[in-house]
Amino acid sequence: MSHLRRSIVIYRCQNLELETTEPDLQIPRVWLSSGTQSAFDNVPGRIQYCEGAFMPQEPWREPTIEESALLWTQEPPPSYSGVGIVRLPSDILALFAASGMAALTTPLQVAEFKTEPKCRQVLDNLIEYFKPFCMSDAPPFIGGMGGRQSGLSTATIDNKRGCRNGLHTDSWDGLPLVKKQESTNRICVNLGLDSRYFLFINLTEMDIFEMLGCRDSDVNQPWTRQLTNEFMQRYPDYPVVKLRIAPGEAYIAPTENMIHDASTAQMKHLDIKVMMRGYYRIPL
Ligand SMILES: [Fe+2]
Repeated sequence: MSHLRRSIVIYRCQNLELETTEPDLQIPRVWLSSGTQSAFDNVPGRIQYCEGAFMPQEPWREPTIEESALLWTQEPPPSYSGVGIVRLPSDILALFAASGMAALTTPLQVAEFKTEPKCRQVLDNLIEYFKPFCMSDAPPFIGGMGGRQSGLSTATIDNKRGCRNGLHTDSWDGLPLVKKQESTNRICVNLGLDSRYFLFINLTEMDIFEMLGCRDSDVNQPWTRQLTNEFMQRYPDYPVVKLRIAPGEAYIAPTENMIHDASTAQMKHLDIKVMMRGYYRIPL
């Protein structure tokens, strides 16, 4: 049995206290899977998994007190090894509510909404809000906005291969392992009606590299899909963390340095999100 280790940690940014007015607060924040397994989806008509893909293995359970202590931190963590949860301020949430975005019901409607001036206006406000978190000279920019159907255990699609990735590591930057701490990270804002779920293994790529016993000289090589899959083959009972991101919240996560995906399995409405890739610090 693989026990949870302490590496990538979760931090609730202080403005999250605003959530205390919501009944949603009663819902747990985090669950752990029983490990990982080969990915499958028996529902006809859905985009299938890529060959060799992995997904979390059920059942999910809430972490023990000891596991929670390993997962959470009380201080803003470094951006390369921490996941921050941020709540958008009420004035920006009011703009999104007025735009009607959350009521969209199909990916096509979201695509059409993206072309409307009112969409540009609310996204400009979002960029303005995240500007102080940006550590590079380049201002934040919207890297993607989309609607995804509910009911998917893992949601990401590899557009090049035309299939669902399953648990994966991003490789937009293409940096070698030794430089992974310098990679971009990602903000993903939940603009839909339901909580959405960020899935991840709480280990950095360097942790995984060491657990696999790879050769030191390979730290100069880019991370590969084979290494991600080898980890899940060798450690099939290492748990996946499922982190709830409520409507109006965002996560900031080092998706180039961790195995992750998103899940829409528990959602009833369209998963509507906006993503920004850059160099973002996790704010207090
Ligand atoms: Fe990803």
